[in-house]
Amino acid sequence: MVGTFPRTILRVVDIYLFCGAGVDLLPRGLLSLGWKGQKRKMKGIFLTIEGLDGAGKTTQLELLRDWFRKRGYDPLFTREPGGTRVGDGVRELLLNRDYTGLVPLAEAFLYSASRAQLVAEVIVPALLAGRIVVCDRFVDSSIAYQGYGRGLPRDFVEGINRRATGDLKPHLTLLLDLEPGLRLERLEQQGEPPRDRLEVEGDAFYTRVREGYLELARENPRRIRVISARQSIMAVHGQIVQYVAEFLSGSAPRPREKAGRAKSPRPGGRFLG
Ligand code: TYD
Repeated sequence: MVGTFPRTILRVVDIYLFCGAGVDLLPRGLLSLGWKGQKRKMKGIFLTIEGLDGAGKTTQLELLRDWFRKRGYDPLFTREPGGTRVGDGVRELLLNRDYTGLVPLAEAFLYSASRAQLVAEVIVPALLAGRIVVCDRFVDSSIAYQGYGRGLPRDFVEGINRRATGDLKPHLTLLLDLEPGLRLERLEQQGEPPRDRLEVEGDAFYTRVREGYLELARENPRRIRVISARQSIMAVHGQIVQYVAEFLSGSAPRPREKAGRAKSPRPGGRFLG
């Protein structure tokens, strides 16, 4: 009998949290049980790139990869949804147009499930090993697409993702901003007509998604750098590497918003030597 009562309470709290209902009511530390004690050991740098489909992320990531390589760095590049075997399976469920009828709630859980796997299997080990990690999309995508785009309550989307990631946050996010009207034009120019379940959504959906991204950028002005994707490829690249170099050399102000590590030291000139 002794001990049953606290266990019952814990179980109820657990179910409550699992359902995403109360995630905002608990202190953040309790939500990151998975990484508890490890956050301060993460010496790596976590960068993400975000934007509407067609904004040119893929091209820019290739250029960024070369930029790092020329300077002797070997960052880990990964992407969402996917980036792990399990995540690639989830990606197929999410993006395949044959799977019509996926409700927004299921969509949000699937993105966060893929993310939980990626964080545990790829991102955290790399950050613990002191590597630079560059991720094509992260939690901001879910807030913009599932929150603003699909209309799920933002605190719910944030809550399930806090659980999925142990509250891991990027140090720097590059947001390639594109007007929704230019999206289709861009996808066609890139020889990639809309093909997956989300890319076939209309301008109204993408207008909300963009608004979500811009709102996030207003709220996190130091972490999220907005770059107009209307510019030439090389102009966008120039801005990206300027922000990345500033951050890595320690000349950029550290995000005031909570970064990926609890009390992380400034990266200083460590990476740029
Ligand atoms: P992908 O083919 O990787 O497109 P892109 O090159 O534009 O990233 O497909 C990812 C799609 O999934 C894209 O339309 C954005 C969407 N998405 C969400 O809706 N929520 C999320 O959390 C993530 C990571 C992606």
